[in-house]
Amino acid sequence: MSDLPQPEFLVLHSPACTAIWEVSQTEAPLWRYWGPRLPERAVPGEALRSTRPEPSFALHFDQPLSLFPGIGMGWFGSPALEAHRAGQDWTLQITQCRVVRPDAETVQFHLRDDVALIAATVTARLDPDSDVLTMSTALRNEGDAVLDVQWLASGGVPLPADSASVRSYGGRHNNEFVPIDDALTRSTWRRENRRGLTSHECFPGAVVTCHNGKAYGAQLGWSGNHVSQIEWADDDRWHWQMGEWLAPGELRLAPGATIETPEMLATCSEEGANGVAWNFHRAIRQRIDWPGGTMSPRKVHLNTWEGFYFDHDEAALKELATSAAEIGIERFVLDDGWFAGRDDDTSSLGDWWPDPAKYPQGLGPLADHVTALGMEFGLWVEPEMINRDSELFRAHPDWVLATPGRPLLEARHQLVLDLTRPEVSDYLYGKIAALLDSLPISYLKWDHNRVLTHAGATPLYRQQILAAYALMARLRAGYPQVEIEACAGGGGRIDAGIVRHSHRFWASDCIDAVSRAPVQRAFLQFMPPEVMGCHVGTSPAHSTGRSQSMHFRAGVALPGHFGVEFDLRKVTGEEREELRRSISTYKTHRDQLHGTRVWTGEAVGGLLWQAHGEAAELLLFLIRTLPSDGRYPPQVALPMVDPNKRYRLSRDGAEDMVLDGGWLRQVGFAAPPMKGEDVMLYRVTAL
Ligand code: GLA
Repeated sequence: MSDLPQPEFLVLHSPACTAIWEVSQTEAPLWRYWGPRLPERAVPGEALRSTRPEPSFALHFDQPLSLFPGIGMGWFGSPALEAHRAGQDWTLQITQCRVVRPDAETVQFHLRDDVALIAATVTARLDPDSDVLTMSTALRNEGDAVLDVQWLASGGVPLPADSASVRSYGGRHNNEFVPIDDALTRSTWRRENRRGLTSHECFPGAVVTCHNGKAYGAQLGWSGNHVSQIEWADDDRWHWQMGEWLAPGELRLAPGATIETPEMLATCSEEGANGVAWNFHRAIRQRIDWPGGTMSPRKVHLNTWEGFYFDHDEAALKELATSAAEIGIERFVLDDGWFAGRDDDTSSLGDWWPDPAKYPQGLGPLADHVTALGMEFGLWVEPEMINRDSELFRAHPDWVLATPGRPLLEARHQLVLDLTRPEVSDYLYGKIAALLDSLPISYLKWDHNRVLTHAGATPLYRQQILAAYALMARLRAGYPQVEIEACAGGGGRIDAGIVRHSHRFWASDCIDAVSRAPVQRAFLQFMPPEVMGCHVGTSPAHSTGRSQSMHFRAGVALPGHFGVEFDLRKVTGEEREELRRSISTYKTHRDQLHGTRVWTGEAVGGLLWQAHGEAAELLLFLIRTLPSDGRYPPQVALPMVDPNKRYRLSRDGAEDMVLDGGWLRQVGFAAPPMKGEDVMLYRVTAL
């Protein structure tokens, strides 16, 4: 035993996770444990420093991993903060720590560096209902000069020494959520997003798998630039940090000013990636602000985009609505192309009033037609954007985000409005509110179809995101019955930040069901199925040219928030009946598909499976995108079933199977022969 004072341990437990810090009044709390739930009394007995000898040629003062690691004072890994005042005050070492417990689940560490003159409050909350640890940091400049902040972590967690690999996600427009598997080595693993919005290229979340099968997950609740970094620490643990990526000069804190980071959501599970997904689903569900307080059944959508693009003809759209209502569609979303002069993607963003040429009497007649059919009416907008060829740009060319001396860079012929200017946000609020006031709109699809490049004379990336959140919040406050869908060229804005203001994500512009199946699978690692926009597209698919059956297209879309996106009037006969049946199946099962637990897995030969519900009552999808190369169909083992029960597996058109739970869990049931591009739906019920 050393002569160090007896340490104090601060412990947070949730049903399945535990976080433990070693706390003293004179330094940042030391990370002692983050992982699966420990028994109530299982605190580390001794101070960390008394458990490890001084290595050769090392500093005499040991600097273990803390919740707010410093710089220049013996911690050689990534710090929580990199900042300076005109080149001074750059070293960081917390000298004071005060702990406040607002409630049993939450701890606030009030930290201060008396030399650097900064104060930081790190808030950590381990949620008992989701097993997710949420961390965020508020930083205050207590000096008398501006503090230039280059990096401020939202939070950081330790990962155990047997952490083996990390799966993150990359991609592009039309090809989101491509898994990137990296081994964890002593080289730092880092993913950065500098595109100004969440991005297709770098989803702000990842899952780490350990050699013993445990998994750790983290995601950042933020819709802008970000960093996710895992660094090996000298004591063989790993340090996983997340935070905003800050452009040079972006964060300059005036004396006395405070800045708050977005939240980092971290979790872990002994059930591997499936357990991590379950925890995230529960945490995300808590963040969604549903109209009326609770989720209502997710209505079947008809979206006009791929069926009509910019070619809006009021009479044809009314026919479409009639045709949609007839097969059970519940919400009609009028996509891009409805506003003044919008005949293609070169013009009119910013001019948010109905095109008098296409809609001589405004959108009222179409919206009334839709609602008279018993459907809801939704409308597409892209508020942050502007085309040069627009009334708005002609009136206010100075409203765009620009850097003096630099050319304006267009993407999809559009520029970005500077939402941080109150007059710009007021203009957008006014235009959208006028539509909401005058039309029976209960749904907005909120798009963002380009990256942010030069965001202002001084970088306004983070301010732009905060202003977008504020605009959404203002609209939600004024029109609480209106749901919002977050879209950015498909899945470019899917994150735990914008989910506080939205109710659905458009996962990808690629509606080819073969391509879509893995996108949805990855989406479900972080987000629950009820917010996963899934449409039945046309055949051949516009994004890939591949043709698929209605049965397969609908089957792949079924588990999410279901919709249809083609010109329904052109689909007749058996295909139309098949779609009608799928809509009815969706309505029958949506209460079990949504708001419940989801497990995903893969059997030998690329057979994907996905189960929704509770272990005693599951809806099980078998999804085959490619033909099998095996001699026999694979066995599908279901890890969630109770080995002490028996289960009935039923599927329309097939004999029921009854299997012992122990067998089903370890060996599985024999999947039926399936060709490529097929989906089957089972009910698995405990007897
Ligand atoms: C983006 C969206 C599409 C559609 C178009 C309209 O690409 O992802 O669904 O709304 O914009 O321009």
